[in-house]
Amino acid sequence: MNRYIVTGGAGFIGSALVRALLADGRDVHVIDNLSSGKFENLQEVESRITFHKLDICCYNQIAPVIASAHRVFHLAAIPSVPKSIDQPVPSHEVNIDGTFNVFRAASEGKVGRVIYAASSSAYGDTAVLPKVETMNPQPKSPYALQKLVGEFYASVFSSCFNLQTVALRFFNVFGPRQDPTSPYSGVLSVFMTCLLEKRSPTIYGDGEQSRDFTYVEDVVGLLMKAAEVSGISGRVFNAGNGGRITLNETWKQLQKIEGVNIPAKYGPPRSGDVRDSQADTVAAVRELGHAPRFTFEQGLRLTLEWYRAHQLTAAK
Ligand code: UD1
Repeated sequence: MNRYIVTGGAGFIGSALVRALLADGRDVHVIDNLSSGKFENLQEVESRITFHKLDICCYNQIAPVIASAHRVFHLAAIPSVPKSIDQPVPSHEVNIDGTFNVFRAASEGKVGRVIYAASSSAYGDTAVLPKVETMNPQPKSPYALQKLVGEFYASVFSSCFNLQTVALRFFNVFGPRQDPTSPYSGVLSVFMTCLLEKRSPTIYGDGEQSRDFTYVEDVVGLLMKAAEVSGISGRVFNAGNGGRITLNETWKQLQKIEGVNIPAKYGPPRSGDVRDSQADTVAAVRELGHAPRFTFEQGLRLTLEWYRAHQLTAAK
């Protein structure tokens, strides 16, 4: 049976992808060192997958697992813009060296295709919105640069080593299982858990920065499509919803859904922060058949219900 590998499969996006692959009847193997991913994210599917607790920085350990797989979804990373500024060394080692190891293992192991989780942060601050794949990348943080290097490696492994690769630039993905407990947690996971605890979140800067928040199941749908469509090797596609909302509006909308009035606190802007982010989805729609199924509000409501049921505590 064809093997499908998910690196970072215990993370919140990876574990959603694992579930979708299982629903399609695939033989799923997860590579994760559980540094930010959690085994709980896979608990109820544990008996249906093969879990390899391995670090992508150890080439000799991951190479035999990756060899001859049908598809490799490479999602393992140390995420977060501010974390890459606070701790640039581990973030470089995992996001660049670890990513190189995955491509090398896939190439030497004759893998069918690697689908790489790139990041919208690679665009930096562009003069024009929405952001189109043909724009010049202008990374503003180590994380953005590292994710961009991975894209370039994807393209070079395609052209020089005949490995099929596709890179998807994720745009601020949110949804169930996103961990709200770290100081580097994604903003929506923090906002939602603050809302449920009836506490003020801290907004960094004036709150007028905007994001194209994308529900995790829509990103999973795109990952599955990128794994199957032919004739796209070496390419980069935006994986976003195509919308854009400010943090101030987002907090307002969440309060409205919950029927509460809790003013946010404001703190200094974060270094490396991009001001506005919005995906142009034309290429993904036309060439991958991208069809987002969840509006921002639907995604918010589903995620909020998940946090309500799981009572996680936001980072303070
Ligand atoms: C960036 C990337 C995204 C990537 C992610 C990985 C961009 C546009 N997006 O997300 O593609 O997947 O890194 O981590 O670069 N904020 C608050 N209060 C909080 C937390 C965050 O105000 O408690 C603010 C941040 O300063 C930022 C926004 O919310 O302006 C979003 O932050 P975050 O969720 O960390 O994601 P990005 O850095 O935008």
